[in-house]
Amino acid sequence: MQSTQRTIGCGLVGSGLLSKKICLFGWVHRRRDHGGLIFIDLRDRSGLMQLVFNPDFSKSAHDIAHQLRSEYVIAVCGTVVERTPETVNDELPTGKYELQVDTLEVLNKAKAIPFMLDEAAQVDEELRLKYRYLDLRRPEMRKKFELRNNVIFAMREFFHNDDFYEIETPILTKNTPEGAREFLVPSRMHGGSFYAMPQSPQLYKQLLMASGMEKYFQVARCFRDEDLRSDRQPEFTQLDVEMSFVDEEQVMSATERMLAYMYKKALGKDISIPFSRMPYDKAFAQYGSDKPDVRFELKIEDCTSLFENTELKFMRSILEKGGKIGALHVEGRQFSRGDLDKWVSRATDLGAKGLVFIHVKDTDKLESPISKFLPSDFFEQAQVLFPTIAQGSTLFLVAGPYKDSWEVLGRLRLEVANQLQMIPKDTDAFIWITDFPLFEYDDQTKQWNAVHHPFTSPKEGWDDLEPSQMKARAYDIVLNGVELGGGSIRIHKPEMQRKIFELLGLDAQKMQDKFGFLLEAQELGFPPHGGIALGLDRLIMLMTRSQSIREVIAFPKTQRGNDPLMESPTLVDEKQLREYGLRLMPGKKE
Ligand code: AMO
Repeated sequence: MQSTQRTIGCGLVGSGLLSKKICLFGWVHRRRDHGGLIFIDLRDRSGLMQLVFNPDFSKSAHDIAHQLRSEYVIAVCGTVVERTPETVNDELPTGKYELQVDTLEVLNKAKAIPFMLDEAAQVDEELRLKYRYLDLRRPEMRKKFELRNNVIFAMREFFHNDDFYEIETPILTKNTPEGAREFLVPSRMHGGSFYAMPQSPQLYKQLLMASGMEKYFQVARCFRDEDLRSDRQPEFTQLDVEMSFVDEEQVMSATERMLAYMYKKALGKDISIPFSRMPYDKAFAQYGSDKPDVRFELKIEDCTSLFENTELKFMRSILEKGGKIGALHVEGRQFSRGDLDKWVSRATDLGAKGLVFIHVKDTDKLESPISKFLPSDFFEQAQVLFPTIAQGSTLFLVAGPYKDSWEVLGRLRLEVANQLQMIPKDTDAFIWITDFPLFEYDDQTKQWNAVHHPFTSPKEGWDDLEPSQMKARAYDIVLNGVELGGGSIRIHKPEMQRKIFELLGLDAQKMQDKFGFLLEAQELGFPPHGGIALGLDRLIMLMTRSQSIREVIAFPKTQRGNDPLMESPTLVDEKQLREYGLRLMPGKKE
């Protein structure tokens, strides 16, 4: 049993404790043995404090201090003294003081750890995840989780003050179509049947509106079995919200007010609301994406008109097929021929058939692989579309079908801006994207799919339109080019819901099997309602300027969906499988 109690956190020792006897608990962060004197930086959650072991002061503590190694867990008691002026460390909040130790107790030893905490940023991520508890001891990581805690607390506070109820919804549930594959859980009691883990609480939160709860939120765990990326995990957390009797503006405004409240509380930052709004069509035309990074300009310009009479065969054939030519105008940068060629091959990697550059060496000297085919007054013509074009400008052109080439330009825009350091790193640029199409056509299955989900209400006048023309009462919120969240006003009437299901290819039987409960609820007094869900991990990744959401999830999965720490997923034995009435197919074991 430990013989003392902790007085205060290491990082909190200040002038008020000078000359006082205190006890500190923590980990040996660094140790310097100067023969006579031993110095230890003791670390706990609150920070670092220097300990000094002086044999003249306490021989027994000094003797034990010789054996201390990195990450030993110790308790020390002693007197807070001022450091000599030469040894003051201005970078540490406790840098003016040290603890002259008179008793030391080793609470636990530590073997040599697999990586030095100070060097963890350079260590293979798999190793960091295997020893995540060591990785999380790093002050940098602790800070991210402190912020995560403060963010969630502030959100709860906001919603609580605004009369929302926080309600948990089931994890063992039935298919909720959000477009990804689901994780299934076999039921032992109902052999052959499976629960699905929720991709989001979508249907339950709608049913909570049918239950008269009116204002709901939840910090909800969601599960999606999809290909992983730096901003995707198989399990992640959403801030999930639903409200009755609201329109789009009310949901967007509540979200903005919540974010402003939270940023102020958690980061002390003022963010300006309302955020700007942009219809999907415009976002795609200008940024080649439905999640534009609006921290910088470099918009895509449609310059098809400049090439209407071109003699270039490949462009003519694209234009004849209804294709378009889009351009990025990079101003005032010198590119070497090698740089330009690199961008050409990058565009091809991104899926373009090619990229054409036109570099303005001088207003009458254009460097380009197609310079021979450009009219002599090209520069003057280009000035109409690009009023700021000048010496040092470069146009990057992609020609092809509108959607494909604009997507490439959108991605190129980000890469070029990144490489040319055009992106201000300290800005938080929120934007709402609205007026999404309701459906998108899947060429492979020859079916319409819901862009958002099948419960999203279409915009008025929808039933007079072709599916491709129907717009959704949906909105996405984007922060610095990352899709932070999305929501919509939902369908609350069974007739409309049935029609949408029909357009999605569900026959009456399928409708009944999958969503009979929803259609029935819609016949029993379902109020109009709408909501939104924000990806909490993504938000905290952006707030902490982290590179991946794995940095802000305590125990994330690797890109391959493994947990190297507990080593999941695992095989289960035959006996367990039998309990569930399951047998593995040959070749399915990994
Ligand atoms: P959506 O599918 O757009 O909407 O998800 C909302 C937000 O959740 C985050 N997100 C993810 N974060 C990490 N890893 C993932 N695999 C992942 N998938 C999604 C994103 C995304 O914007 N039920 C609707 C919301 C609604 O209509 O109210 C929904 O889930 O930040």
